[in-house]
Amino acid sequence: MENIGIYVHIPFCIHKCYYCDFISYPNKLDKQKEYVQVLTKEIEVRSKNVKNYVDTIYIGGGTPSVIDSSYIMEILGAIRKNYKVKKNAEITIEVNPGTVTEEKLKDYKMAGINRLSIGLQSTKNNLLEKIGRIHKYEDFLNTYKLAQKIGFKNINVDLMIGLPEQSLQDVEDSLVEIIKLKPRHISVYSLILEENTKLEVLVNLGKLDLPDDELERQMYWKVKGVLEDNEYEHYEISNFAKKGYKSKHNFNCWKQHNYLGFGVSAHSYYNNIRYSNTNNLEEYLKNPEGKNIEEKQTLEEAKKEYMMLGLRTLDGISISEFKQKYVDNPLYLFKNELSKLTNEGLLEIDLDNIKLTNKGLDLANLVWEEFI
Ligand SMILES: C[S@@+](CC[C@H](N)C(=O)[O-])C[C@H]1O[C@@H](n2cnc3c(N)ncnc32)[C@H](O)[C@@H]1O
Ligand code: SF4
Repeated sequence: MENIGIYVHIPFCIHKCYYCDFISYPNKLDKQKEYVQVLTKEIEVRSKNVKNYVDTIYIGGGTPSVIDSSYIMEILGAIRKNYKVKKNAEITIEVNPGTVTEEKLKDYKMAGINRLSIGLQSTKNNLLEKIGRIHKYEDFLNTYKLAQKIGFKNINVDLMIGLPEQSLQDVEDSLVEIIKLKPRHISVYSLILEENTKLEVLVNLGKLDLPDDELERQMYWKVKGVLEDNEYEHYEISNFAKKGYKSKHNFNCWKQHNYLGFGVSAHSYYNNIRYSNTNNLEEYLKNPEGKNIEEKQTLEEAKKEYMMLGLRTLDGISISEFKQKYVDNPLYLFKNELSKLTNEGLLEIDLDNIKLTNKGLDLANLVWEEFI
C-alpha cells in the first residue's frame, strides 16, 4: 500500500501581503482555538479506513507560526493518534519572520518537526515594504539564527522574482546573501499578479511598475545560474536543493501520490479522487464533521494532470511510470500535444523521459496549458 502525505492549512496571518491570494485572514486570530478544535475533529473523522503509512506532513498557510505553538503540538498529536506516521517522516512548518520565538521553535522541535520553510521574498527592505511584508531582512536573520540555534538543519527559504521595481542586481544580491547562510533548500517564485489583490490595484493605477517579460526572464536565468554554481540542484521549476534535501512532500504532490489535506481550502488526492474543502472559514467552522466536497476527476483529467504536474519537475515524466500507473502510453495518448510542443522546441523526449527544454523552462506556462 502506497505511503501518503498530509497537508494542514492554517489560514491566519498578521497582515495581508499585497500580492497574496492564498486563503489567509488578517485579524482573525481570535478564532484560532475554535479552528484547531474543528481541524483536529476533521483529522480524526477522516482517518476512518485510511490504513496507509504517512511519510510527509506539511503545515502551511497562511502563517502557521502565528498561532500558539501548543496548537501546532495538538494538531500533530491528533495526526499521530489517528494515522500511522513513519518514524523518519519529513515534517515541515511554514514560518514567517517576526512571528516565531525561541519557545515556539523549541515546541516545534519537541513535536517532531524537522523542516522549516521561512518566507523571506527579498533581502531588500525597500522591496519588502512595497509588497506589504510585516518584517525586515534583519527579522529574517534573527529567525534563521534562532532556528539554527535550536537545531533545525533542514531549512528552506522562499524568495520571489518579478517584484515591483525589483532589479536584476536586487535578485543577485538576495541570492548571494542567502547562499552565505547555507540553507539546504531555496524556493524562488515568479510573482503571479493575482486578481483582486492590492498589488493588482496598485499596478493598474500605475503606482507600481512590474519588471517586463525580458527582465523577468533574465532574473530567472540569473537565479538558476547562481544557485547551480553553488551546488543547489534545480529540480522543479521554482525549487532548488542541496543533495539529499529535495522537499519530499511537494515532490509527492507533483508525482500525483496520495495525500490528505485538512483545514479550510485544503485539497486532497486519495485513491484517484480529488477532494476540496470549502474556501470559506465560517462555513468550515460550522462543519466539525469534516465533510468534503468531492470532485470526481475523470481518468482523462487525471492523466492530463499527471502530465502537467510532472512537467513542473526538471526530470520530467517517466514514460514507463506513466504506463505502469495508467496502463496507457503517453506518447500515443498525447501525440498531438507532444508533437506540437517538441516542434516548438519546448519539450524533449528521450528513451524514457519527456521533459522541458531550456526554452520550455522559459515558457513553462505554454507547456502546462496544453494539458489543462
Ligand atoms: C503559501 S505562502 C505562505 C508562506 C508564509 N506565509 C510567508 O508568506 O512567508 C508560500 C510562498 O508562496 C509565495 N507566493 C505567495 N503568493 C505568491 C504570488 N502571488 N506569486 C508568486 N509567489 C507567491 C511566497 O514566496 C510565499 O513565501
Ligand atoms: S504572510 Fe504568507 S500567506 Fe500571509 S498574506 Fe503574506 S504571503 Fe500570504
